[in-house]
Amino acid sequence: MPPLTKAFFNGKIIPYQDAKIHANAAVFKYATAVFEGIRAYWNSDESKLYVFKLVEHSDRLVKSVALMRMKSAFDSAYYQDGVMSLLRDIKPVTDLHIRQTVWVDNDGSMWADSPVGCVVIATPSGRPAGYDAGISMQVSSWTRINDQIMPARIKCIANYHNGRLASMQARQDGYDNALLLNSRGKVAEAPGACFFLVKNGVPVTPTVTSDILESINRATIIHLFKEQFGLDVEVRDVDRTEVYMADEAFLCGTAAEVTPVASVDRFPMKKGRGDLTRALQEKWEAITTGKDKAHPEWRTLV
Ligand SMILES: Cc1ncc(COP(=O)(O)O)c(C=O)c1O
Repeated sequence: MPPLTKAFFNGKIIPYQDAKIHANAAVFKYATAVFEGIRAYWNSDESKLYVFKLVEHSDRLVKSVALMRMKSAFDSAYYQDGVMSLLRDIKPVTDLHIRQTVWVDNDGSMWADSPVGCVVIATPSGRPAGYDAGISMQVSSWTRINDQIMPARIKCIANYHNGRLASMQARQDGYDNALLLNSRGKVAEAPGACFFLVKNGVPVTPTVTSDILESINRATIIHLFKEQFGLDVEVRDVDRTEVYMADEAFLCGTAAEVTPVASVDRFPMKKGRGDLTRALQEKWEAITTGKDKAHPEWRTLV
């Protein structure tokens, strides 16, 4: 099963090494692309592979394409089918990170809006770094892009230079990851994940108008906190010093899943990998793999 042998490329399953884009394409010159990251989870008890929130990710991709003014006839069903046909072809028996990318595929003026291409690649993927011990974070001196500059709420690839600079700086300074503040000085998010803190048993997360990505997993976690733990998440502006004084914190997202934050700017979280974060991780693992049968509508069986 090596999943990297194949790709879904403009409607066909082709050899991985043939999934190529011309060097003069608009995407190469102007970053005219949007994408989704999706996880699929292997349930070894049942020998089944489930894609988590395939419909929601594919729906968001449609919105990203429209917002970036790309002209495309692809709909959510097309993107879902791209993932499913690739996975049915390569038959993986492991957890995966899947990337759907849509790009402007012509010879490249800045205002080119069509034709668009679509590629889906599935890569074997384990738990994120720090899943058990937690990560150290640095409040970045880079500011999160805001909605007057770039559409921070969607997955437009050009946005990622902002997060990349912040994470490169954090790594050079000896931290695992960065935490970006927005242009109002409030907590936004990490370069590829949303942020929650817990204080006195109450989970808190920044609003969707804080220049964060409108994260599918953030919404899922807000739902799960209420449903599984009877906890209302406070969705509001978050100050930097609230983070320093939190009991627990974690990142969430497709790549991050639920990654505990051990410290921010060397202020240790009072409870390290806290009880609530651990309980959420356990619930997360059970639901995403289908070991817990709650929310079958969140999982697509391959
Ligand atoms: C910048 C950014 N923030 C947050 C997230 C989390 O979003 P989601 O839960 O939809 O994967 C991501 C993607 O994983 C991201 O790239």
